Amino acid sequence: HRTNVWQGTRITITAGPTREAIDPVRYISNHSSGKMGYALAAAAQQLGAEVTLISGPVTLPSPPGVNVIHVESAEQMLAAAQAQTMDVFVSCAAVADYRPAEVSQQKIKKEQKGDDAQLTLVKNPDILKTIATQPQPPFCIGFAAETEKVRQHALDKLQRKQLQLIVANDVSDKQIGFNSDNNAVTVYWQDGEQSFAAQSKQNLANALNELFAQHYFKNKP
Ligand code: C5P
Repeated sequence: HRTNVWQGTRITITAGPTREAIDPVRYISNHSSGKMGYALAAAAQQLGAEVTLISGPVTLPSPPGVNVIHVESAEQMLAAAQAQTMDVFVSCAAVADYRPAEVSQQKIKKEQKGDDAQLTLVKNPDILKTIATQPQPPFCIGFAAETEKVRQHALDKLQRKQLQLIVANDVSDKQIGFNSDNNAVTVYWQDGEQSFAAQSKQNLANALNELFAQHYFKNKP
């Protein structure tokens, strides 16, 4: 096993959910555990990379030797990502697609709302697409959690977000994906794909880093 495949490479990884405030005590979020992103960060560090992990709120310990930046919202995650100098960007975070249009400064009281309440949402920035379409983008790797037509949706995202690689998993399978310690994925690129059978996120993180490095150094100018 090679220990230095990433030697000298600066990698930024996003992980976990984002949290979008409604008022001082409430928020919108999702079930992402951050386990896959943290495992990828730990593995990349062990493979010789200089790793920055931009993490939404999760309960995981920081991987040794990794620079961890804690954020809450998608807007904060984007700002943190834009502040990095990186060779490779791995977007593993489950970013909330929408956030409340207004954040109430005071706790919203049910007495003021009655039996029906509406929440107006606005679209969050696409962090990955923003980084991937900047003038001199890093090598960009996305994730796609799908419940159907996994291949079609993954290839569509590869194209639309201008990525080099996309890692797709079928989240309709309860044995893998969100919150699980195991995952099975297929990685797609412009003219190929590779599947990884269900295994621990630790093992998978090592195998994925090897594949990412192969593609990164093959495409590097
Ligand atoms: O379009 P979709 O959300 O399925 O795309 C998933 C990929 O895009 C993931 O890599 C995710 O981290 C990234 N993404 C992002 N910002 C968003 C939405 C998704 O970086 N607002």
